[in-house]
Amino acid sequence: MKNIVLTGFMGSGKTEVGRELAHLKGLKLIDVDAEIEKSQNMTISEIFKRFGEQKFREIESKMIERVSRKKNVIIATGGGAAISERNMDALKKTGIVICLTATPQTILQRTGITDDRPLLRVEDPLEKINELMLHRKQFYEKADIMIDTENKTPREVAEEILDKIRNE
Ligand code: S3P
Repeated sequence: MKNIVLTGFMGSGKTEVGRELAHLKGLKLIDVDAEIEKSQNMTISEIFKRFGEQKFREIESKMIERVSRKKNVIIATGGGAAISERNMDALKKTGIVICLTATPQTILQRTGITDDRPLLRVEDPLEKINELMLHRKQFYEKADIMIDTENKTPREVAEEILDKIRNE
C-alpha cells in the first residue's frame, strides 16, 4: 500500500485527520513538523525566529526527503511543504497525496486557538490567510485527491479519505 500523505493550509486539520487515519488503519503517523522540532531540538517558531523562513524550508525539504523513503505510513506535512515541486515529487513517489481544504474564516478560527504559526503572527491574520491561500492554491491542486473539511469532524474526514482511496 502507498503512504497516505496529508497536505493543505495551516489549520486544515492535517495532524488531527492523520491521527484518525493512523488509528483506523493501524499505521504509524509521521508529523513532519514534529519530526523537524525533534531533530532541531527547537519549536517551529524558534526555528523561524533564529534562522528565518528560508532555512526552515531547507530543513523541511530534507525531512520530507527522509520521511518519503518510508513505507506504509501516514505522513502529515506542514502547510507550506506543497509549494516546493521537489517536496511534492518526493511525497508522490511513495504516497497518495491528499489535500485538505477549508475556508479562510474556518482557518482563522482553527489557528486562532494557538499561537504557534509564525506566518500568521501578523496584525491582520485573515488578510494573510487570504493572500497565502491565493498564492498556494495552484500548488495544493496538484494533490491526487482534494477533501473539503468544512463542518466535518477529523474522523469523518478520515473515513471520506479511505472511501475515496478505495474507489481510486
Ligand atoms: C507553515 C505551516 C506550519 C509550519 C510552519 C509553516 C506554512 O504547519 O510548517 O509554521 O508555511 O503553511 P501546519 O500547516 O501544520 O500549521
